[in-house]
Amino acid sequence: MDSIIVTGNGPLKGQIPIAGAKNACLTLMPATLLSDEPLTLTNAPRLSDIKTMSALLESLGAEVSQLQDGKVLVMSSHALSSHVADYDIVRKMRASILVLGPMLARDGHAVVSLPGGCAIGARPVDLHLRALEAMGAELELKEGYVHAKAPNGLKGGTVDFPLVSVGATENALMAATLAKGTTVLKNAAREPEIVDLADCLRRMGAQIEGDGTGTITIQGVDRLGGATHPVVADRIELGTYMLAPAICGGEVECLGGRINLVGAFCEKLDAAGIDVSETDKGIKVSRKNGRVKSVDVTTEPFPGFPTDLQAQMMALMCTADGTSVLEEKIFENRFMHAPELMRMGAHIDVHGGTATVTGVERLKGAPVMATDLRASVSLILAGLAAEGETIVNRVYHLDRGYESVEEKLGNVGARIERVSGQ
Ligand code: EPZ
Repeated sequence: MDSIIVTGNGPLKGQIPIAGAKNACLTLMPATLLSDEPLTLTNAPRLSDIKTMSALLESLGAEVSQLQDGKVLVMSSHALSSHVADYDIVRKMRASILVLGPMLARDGHAVVSLPGGCAIGARPVDLHLRALEAMGAELELKEGYVHAKAPNGLKGGTVDFPLVSVGATENALMAATLAKGTTVLKNAAREPEIVDLADCLRRMGAQIEGDGTGTITIQGVDRLGGATHPVVADRIELGTYMLAPAICGGEVECLGGRINLVGAFCEKLDAAGIDVSETDKGIKVSRKNGRVKSVDVTTEPFPGFPTDLQAQMMALMCTADGTSVLEEKIFENRFMHAPELMRMGAHIDVHGGTATVTGVERLKGAPVMATDLRASVSLILAGLAAEGETIVNRVYHLDRGYESVEEKLGNVGARIERVSGQ
């Protein structure tokens, strides 16, 4: 297993290109199952999760080819050779559940393994299943698999989500495009990845309104065609790299970033004393001298502060002047980065879903363990500002969601290198 060694090296300067969004691409790819014509995605990120989703689609009989070194994905699924999403693949990547809605909508049957939990929480999929049942699907749970049937096709229905779920909204949205009649999704997720999916589905011929708000209305159509769609910029990668100059000083321009993708996050950076400005090429972030101010953060569904930036923001608050309270309201176990940051000298008190951080002047480098995707990158950020050397182990977590971190940070002056493990 590879490790990454980061040595505190002072202020950063330069530009970091932001890739296409992992969490948009992972829902755009299953959309190919809705049509027998090719779907091409441009600006696709080069990540291990994308490779996993490609393998899953191929296991169903879809064809996936990568052009331009993986930045372009050309997919087509004329006729599926299998309708079973196997536990072996699904357990590695929970987003695999997103093939359920499209497969059911297109062919009237699907067998998908339940994903099981992951490091940050139980991650049930009951809301995905409830939405499909509201569209007439017959579901049966057998030996860890969901057996879904819609012999006469799905029919339009009203889905009132009791809590906001990105994945359940995506599954329901894709399924509804081919359902007979009108579907209304209430209390739908409003993330930019939902809007990006709706844009792509409209290019394929779907009739969708209200995406980006809490109520999405879909008029089902008989069939969808092919399309070419650019994957939206990754707002979580963007926020992550915006924190690099914030935590160790300097000035960095994140190319391709737009403020509307990270509004609530930028408000917190501003309150912490970080300069953020939108340029014609992206977002410029700088921190003059002096310590960052501590701010309180509560994670919420979009447009609130994203849970996927909580770990990274905690790293910044570990070096802030004062005490900050971080409340994690989305997942039940998303503070596993805290004990690792404490190995670096951070002062963090965790009680349930609340972490209280008292900033220190300087963190100290140490060997630390990555536990999940966003926790791993928060340790890299902490290492940028720490005195001495930080060794982040198990960086396979990192590779799921961040393209060539060491190159992007190295190009703006960080001392960072990857050491391959045995
Ligand atoms: C998506 O996960 C993202 N993953 C996550 O990013 C992100 O943290 C999350 O949305 C929230 O923004 C992808 O898009 C691939 P949810 P998802 O359904 O869809 C509960 C990353 O680091 N829930 O919005 O699984 C659930 O337990 C990953 O890139 C149910 O109870 O998240 C959680 O508490 C991590 N029943 C809350 O809802 C359900 O059926 C929000 O989950 C579904 C969800």
